[in-house]
Amino acid sequence: MNTSTVKKAFADHFDGECAVYASPGRINLIGEHTDYNGGFVFPGAVDCGIVAAIRPNGTDRVRAYAIDLNRNSTFGLEEKDCPEEGWAKYIFGVCREMAKLGVEVKGFDCAFSGDVPLGAGMSSSAALESTFAFALNDLFADNRIDKFALAKVGQMTEHHYVGVNCGIMDQFASVFGKQGNLMRLDCRSMEFEYFPFDPKGYRLVLVNSVVKHELVDSPYNKRRESCERVAKTLGIETLRDASFEDLEAAKEKISEEDYKRAKYVIGEKQRVLDVCDALVRGDYETVGKRMYATHWGMSRDYEVSCEELDFLVTLAERCGVTGSRIMGGGFGGCTINLVKEELYDKFIACAKSEFAAKYGHEPKIYDVVISDGARRIE
Ligand code: GLA
Repeated sequence: MNTSTVKKAFADHFDGECAVYASPGRINLIGEHTDYNGGFVFPGAVDCGIVAAIRPNGTDRVRAYAIDLNRNSTFGLEEKDCPEEGWAKYIFGVCREMAKLGVEVKGFDCAFSGDVPLGAGMSSSAALESTFAFALNDLFADNRIDKFALAKVGQMTEHHYVGVNCGIMDQFASVFGKQGNLMRLDCRSMEFEYFPFDPKGYRLVLVNSVVKHELVDSPYNKRRESCERVAKTLGIETLRDASFEDLEAAKEKISEEDYKRAKYVIGEKQRVLDVCDALVRGDYETVGKRMYATHWGMSRDYEVSCEELDFLVTLAERCGVTGSRIMGGGFGGCTINLVKEELYDKFIACAKSEFAAKYGHEPKIYDVVISDGARRIE
């Protein structure tokens, strides 16, 4: 994340002093589509994200400059003032959601830039939301809003201003991230635990298919609706409380499609717990097996994978990679891979050449560095 570029862009564009804030994207070791089902997730923050330079401007308008797009947007702070540009809606949404918490958000100038690959399933949007939620809390609320509420502000921005009914995982990870640690979050009680993650002899690497997903108007919200329908039929609040037996017993009352969605979720919530136990024992083989099981569950039952990602996971399996799966909401993006050190070079070379031979471009590779969450840089 390049702080000096952002400061310079701010100075060129608006002149004068500014405060600088940053928030990261995230990985998720395991636990996909479990957050909005009251289950567990296991994310960590990464070393790429959004950096924003901000300064209150003494008016009731926001002047925002998206450095990477070279686009400007100016908007007011009332509900009716929602900007047209997709990227500006995130900033506007955060302002509105902070105001709903009683924060007196005033006008400001800002310039921001990011290095989370867009559409890669690494939550560039949560990074943007968390950066601004954190900054507005610092600038206009003396930091009285707690970190969970800041994560919620990002999530509610997605629900109310972007149209994605996401869970809390991405914003939670972006706000609470801690260097060298993954976090196991119980999305029902919101209790969480840091897990130091340093798998000796292994590396975590993301392979980005560069197939872009767009969660707005995508089947993401439909997946959530399926889960909610099944929970309702079972008479429970979320699938967190469902077992395979409950699902079998209700099979006649739900559609075949909803049955498959719920089957995946019920399996996934147990896989997160299995992975946590395995990590405590240093049993990375089990971690890897569960990752593969998640992938094929997401591909066949939840149906959020795509041909390119199935190809990458099959290739990983053939290369002897310990664990590999699609990461994030799905419909494109990255696989996350747990690879033994000695296999790393061979796997990456195969992934690049075989993927390119089939799809005409190489995938992009990111070595995972688990990093800190939202913060003021200066
Ligand atoms: C997206 C959503 C998250 C979560 C994941 C899938 O990233 O924003 O809330 O549901 O998909 O695990």
